[in-house]
Amino acid sequence: MNNFTYSIPTRIHFGRGQISHLAELAESGKKVLVVYGGGSIKRTGLYGEAMALLRGAGLEVFELSGVEPNPRIGTVRRGVELCRAENIDMVLAVGGGSTIDCAKAVAAGARYPGDAWELVLDSSLVKDALPIYSVLTLAATGSEMDGIAVISDFEKNEKLSLKSEHIKPRMSVLDPTYTFSVSKRQTAAGTADMMSHVLENYFTNVEHADVQARFCEGLLRTVVQWGPVAVEQPENYDARANLMWTGSMAINGLLSNGAEVPWCVHPIEHELSAFYDITHGEGLAILTPHWMDHVLSEKTAAKFAQYGRAVWDLDGDQNDMDIAREAVACTRAFFRRLGLPSKLRDVGIADGSNFEAMAAKAAPRCGTAYVPLGKDDIVSIFRAAF
Ligand code: NZQ
Ligand code: ZN
Repeated sequence: MNNFTYSIPTRIHFGRGQISHLAELAESGKKVLVVYGGGSIKRTGLYGEAMALLRGAGLEVFELSGVEPNPRIGTVRRGVELCRAENIDMVLAVGGGSTIDCAKAVAAGARYPGDAWELVLDSSLVKDALPIYSVLTLAATGSEMDGIAVISDFEKNEKLSLKSEHIKPRMSVLDPTYTFSVSKRQTAAGTADMMSHVLENYFTNVEHADVQARFCEGLLRTVVQWGPVAVEQPENYDARANLMWTGSMAINGLLSNGAEVPWCVHPIEHELSAFYDITHGEGLAILTPHWMDHVLSEKTAAKFAQYGRAVWDLDGDQNDMDIAREAVACTRAFFRRLGLPSKLRDVGIADGSNFEAMAAKAAPRCGTAYVPLGKDDIVSIFRAAF
């Protein structure tokens, strides 16, 4: 196990009715910028509830609405301008990962003299940020408890991660009932996303990070159990609660600290989203089984077999390679069962004309992964997934 410093400064209020804790925002000042997406929070009534609580706590409320899935730098810039013009004290994101990511970038941008895109290109420039709070409405990214904001510039086909301790939320409200209204499609995509986060941590070369590995297996089993239930029964509280907490645990450092390895499927998916604006979780569901096919070898079979035994209950007298292949098949079948796409064509990617360009951009981030991948490997994965 590697050395690490573990620090999660985010207070979590988990469960029904925990939104009453929004009154705590008064600890950070008077003026709050409420950031939200395309309107789901208005349809569910959460908007009205949050506004009443904020005003009841004596806060002055400003709004940044219309945050897109795959949030754009232009929206971040609008938020930063508002913060500067109105002397905003803190930001509150009410929504899914895109909304929270946008709010984080706004919070960092508001405390940076230059353009916010510079921070996306170089996270080390982030020296400070406005206090960040969130009310989560979609279980997927873990943004509610991590220090990451993924921001896109579609004019440049760029989708990049800003990473900084300064953008970890101070407090997040996790009420599973707010995810009852999430569509089957987004529920499935969110499930694939959190599953991918766990797998990215699980497939590491760091030896004897056993605590992390066992956490991973437990979380994966939880996702396998409850993901399909949430898709079929959107108002099943236990399913929503278990997915929500798994989503947070998957990427808050619990699994990665001490077992760090550069993620590989994510950088490849981010290129798909950057070029085609597809749903992140769907891209991961398509790529993950093909990545597994590509990196499975005599060298990695034991690890894949461990995954098969611990998560999919595969057993018997088969050798590691057979169990490993079956584990990949189980993963593929699970995504299908959730109704997720399995081919790039399914998400509207009509030809392979950008495969080389996307692979060239992803390759530098995959060169030291669990199994290092170069440009040609990534092109092969795209072709197989096509
Ligand atoms: O915009 P609104 O109207 O709110 O609708 C959203 C959006 O259309 C809707 N939605 C959210 N909560 C809902 C709801 N609809 C009904 N009821 C609710 N309760 O769902 C749609 C998708 O929302 P979005 O926020 O885009 O989804 P998600 O949470 O999956 O976030 C995806 C973004 O996060 C990034 C992804 O790349 C993508 O840009 N990621 C962020 C990470 C992080 N910060 O750590 C890590 C991830 O790997 C990921 O890259
Ligand atoms: Zn993800």
